[in-house]
Amino acid sequence: MNTPTIVASSILAIDFSDLRGEIARATAAGTDWFHLDIMDGHFVDNISFGPALVAAVRQCTDLPLDVHLMIENPDHYLERFIPNASSLTVHVEAAPDVSRTLAAIREGGCKAGLACNPATPFRDVVPFLDQIDLLLLMTVHPGFGGQKFRLETMEKVQAAAALQKDRGWKFQIEVDGGINAGTAGTARQNGAEILVAGTALFGAADMAAAIRELRG
Ligand code: DX5
Ligand code: ZN
Repeated sequence: MNTPTIVASSILAIDFSDLRGEIARATAAGTDWFHLDIMDGHFVDNISFGPALVAAVRQCTDLPLDVHLMIENPDHYLERFIPNASSLTVHVEAAPDVSRTLAAIREGGCKAGLACNPATPFRDVVPFLDQIDLLLLMTVHPGFGGQKFRLETMEKVQAAAALQKDRGWKFQIEVDGGINAGTAGTARQNGAEILVAGTALFGAADMAAAIRELRG
């Protein structure tokens, strides 16, 4: 029986002058998780926010915090994110020793996630699929919200779903970037189980309806 699709609201798209209010609005609208995009201005061409904001969001909600590290040298910062993260995702392109980083995340008590950019071949993540709880397949090149969904990334979602079935691995498939009412169905049909969305949700006139639409 298919488990219900998880919707993770990306706070990159919020009105930061009203953090507590935006978290409350998304919670009331029925988001399952919050997705927090950490950007260092090196791994991606943007700087967003850091551990202090994750701690502040932790004070505003009991929902799972899905922290996405778009940073170089993630090992150096794990300790600062682990206390307030429910899941902590590193990029396969940024971790010098992926297995060691994933183990450190789990030892810290967080679910371990591995992210992969659209340009990175799927084969680069395959060696780690039995060591993770989340596989984050980027559907845009990371760095900014509001970008266009890249359909070619669905091949990776399909490949990941096939491995889940053939190998019985337990990771969940998450997609991130350009997810909205027009693209969520395609992502779900290809095997995505967790949908990250920022613009489509925080920009919606009716956020609850927008979340329901993503779930299908
Ligand atoms: C992009 C981030 C995404 C982004 C999604 O680098 O990883 O999580 O916030 O934004 P939307 O849903 O606006 O495309
Ligand atoms: Zn993200």
